[in-house]
Amino acid sequence: MSQYKSVFQRAKNSPSDFWLEAARAVHWETPPTTGLNDNNPPFNTWFEDGKINACHNALDIHVENGRADQAALIYDSPITGSKRTLTYKELRDEVALFAGALAAQGVSKGDRVLIYMPMIPEAVVAVLACARLGAVHSVVFGGFAANELAVRIDDCEPKLIVSASCGIEPARVVEYKPLLDSAIELASYKVPCCILHQREAVSATLIDGRDIDWQDAIAAAKPADCVPVKSTDPLYILYTSGTTGQPKGVVRDTGGSVVSLKWTMSNIYGVEPGEVYWAASDIGWVVGHSYIIYGPLFHGCTTVLYEGKPVGTPDAGAFWRVISEHKVSVLFTAPTAFRAIKKVDPDAALLKQYDMSMFRTLFLAGERCDPDTLEWAQTRLGVDVIDHWWQTETGWSICSNCLGIEKLPVVSGSPSVAVPGYDLDVLDEQGNPVAPGQIGALAVKLPLPPGTFITLWGAPERFKSAYFSTYEGYYETGDAGYIDENGYVFVMARTDDVINVAGHRLSTGAIEEVLAGHPDVAECAVLGASDDLKGQLPIGLVILSDGCDRSNEDITKELVARVRELIGPVAAFKSVAIVNKLPKTRSGKMLRATMRSIADSAEWNMPATIEDVSALDDVTTALKNMGYASKS
Ligand code: COA
Ligand code: AMP
Repeated sequence: MSQYKSVFQRAKNSPSDFWLEAARAVHWETPPTTGLNDNNPPFNTWFEDGKINACHNALDIHVENGRADQAALIYDSPITGSKRTLTYKELRDEVALFAGALAAQGVSKGDRVLIYMPMIPEAVVAVLACARLGAVHSVVFGGFAANELAVRIDDCEPKLIVSASCGIEPARVVEYKPLLDSAIELASYKVPCCILHQREAVSATLIDGRDIDWQDAIAAAKPADCVPVKSTDPLYILYTSGTTGQPKGVVRDTGGSVVSLKWTMSNIYGVEPGEVYWAASDIGWVVGHSYIIYGPLFHGCTTVLYEGKPVGTPDAGAFWRVISEHKVSVLFTAPTAFRAIKKVDPDAALLKQYDMSMFRTLFLAGERCDPDTLEWAQTRLGVDVIDHWWQTETGWSICSNCLGIEKLPVVSGSPSVAVPGYDLDVLDEQGNPVAPGQIGALAVKLPLPPGTFITLWGAPERFKSAYFSTYEGYYETGDAGYIDENGYVFVMARTDDVINVAGHRLSTGAIEEVLAGHPDVAECAVLGASDDLKGQLPIGLVILSDGCDRSNEDITKELVARVRELIGPVAAFKSVAIVNKLPKTRSGKMLRATMRSIADSAEWNMPATIEDVSALDDVTTALKNMGYASKS
């Protein structure tokens, strides 16, 4: 039997033993004697009698074990022209001090701390400081607008918010403080305290009695020690898009996260402690949590925090520069970043300027990896390019070529095979496994491995109904696909209204709610149309209220501005058209999939239950005018 199959079988046959063995590789205050407790599915727990601290595993353990002077974090910011390296000891000391500052404001174990920050070292310090105290961090991506921030504030009720004066995008400085103030104003829950890091580009005005300058906070603080917590205590909440405007607060436990992420570093990524690992993502996304911050640090690697873009900061050689300058062994990013590079520098001419000899593997995830991009990266870089599939909910990959176990042949279009720990099936509508090669819902048989989500914050019933109710005994991933005869998995599309824009997960339902809130809109639909660069882009189709006599141009402009203001620029919502009718079934269900196929010029069949066929002509014309449906 192949090495991969044997490890997979062990994890499947005796998950408790398998993960208890993996748990020995991390530091416990009280080592666990039990692995899995599945008495109350789907609320399974891992290592429930263990006590642990995630920050201790990320920093202190390495300082104590000979890595004090090794770089823990390299901050590289072409956007501000600055770089900074922090050794494990320096990062530990900064984190301990900031943890002391949080504690001085009354933050302690179990309290939530919301972090709304750009890609600067202070953001990593804030995250780890929370973990040090056993406080629960919730990082909100900087590209979200005040309204989205307010929704998250109300949901997790933070004791404190850590933020910065601004984020810096290539074309503009994004002032965070006005967004923060307006979010706090909008939220019903009143945040008592904010700590704000002032960046050089903008000095924000602080509100007396509520806001504290980061420098003042640490000047007055004493370093805090790690607080051991129960393995099952939450490490963080990370909000992700669901099918409605109310985001889902994915909760991850502490012990499971430490054990699983440490395990993935060697078994999936094939990385050794001491090597440089770079996840070119954002700390606001799950990739940033797992592989900018926790995974590499648990493993004693050097992690890179990159504040820049794949192109334009300053050119399409930016990734190669970072790899060669910091001797990166493994890069993890989204295919969209490579599509952006390929578009600007199709022959990768800029590569020639850099010494890439240390670079070994490129991992891609976040969206479906198109074969062209995979092949381009393989031939230009001459290294292994591994597509792997995962989700905010799982925290680490469901499918991958596990380089540290056994390198399997790469099959274009497939994120390879199920990772040990994930017993994956393809199910039909009745919940029966289908034959190899047949498309169905991708679902993971319970139990989920450690480090996956344990609940949704404040919404255990939604946790059950959204993920575990359709197929008895399974976690429903929300993705559809198939598994071939050799066990290779192909992830084809979402089964819900979630779309993927430049590797960012967005809900069409949430955008529809924003459009529907415009006073002149009677009805609307938002679809994810294919886009060569970003994978998908949201496009809106709206019907105006009777009697509205304002110009279409004014209204569409307002709708674009409204989505930007209420969801954020990251939605990249730029295309919206006014139509007279929207296609629906006779029972009133919007035919979004049909409209999407028309937009993409893909094949589609006339739905037998369509109420009014002429609505399709109306929509097709509107889509054509927006540059879609070219072959319809
Ligand atoms: N704070 C504020 N605004 C932000 C932001 C942040 N942290 N991140 C993005 N934005 C804004 C951008 O400025 C842009 O605004 P604009 O409409 O004024 O131009 C908008 O949100 C869309 O940003 P982005 O998705 O980054 O698109 P882009 O056109 O600027 O760049 C890529 C396209 C492909 C280069 C870029 O999406 C990219 O690098 N993607 C990498 C994928 C990734 O990190 N995925 C995470 C999961 S692995
Ligand atoms: P997120 O929770 O933001 O990480 O988004 C998760 C979703 O992105 C998944 O459910 C998939 O739809 C998609 N996705 C992530 N990685 C891949 C991949 N390698 N191949 C196809 N789709 C992917």
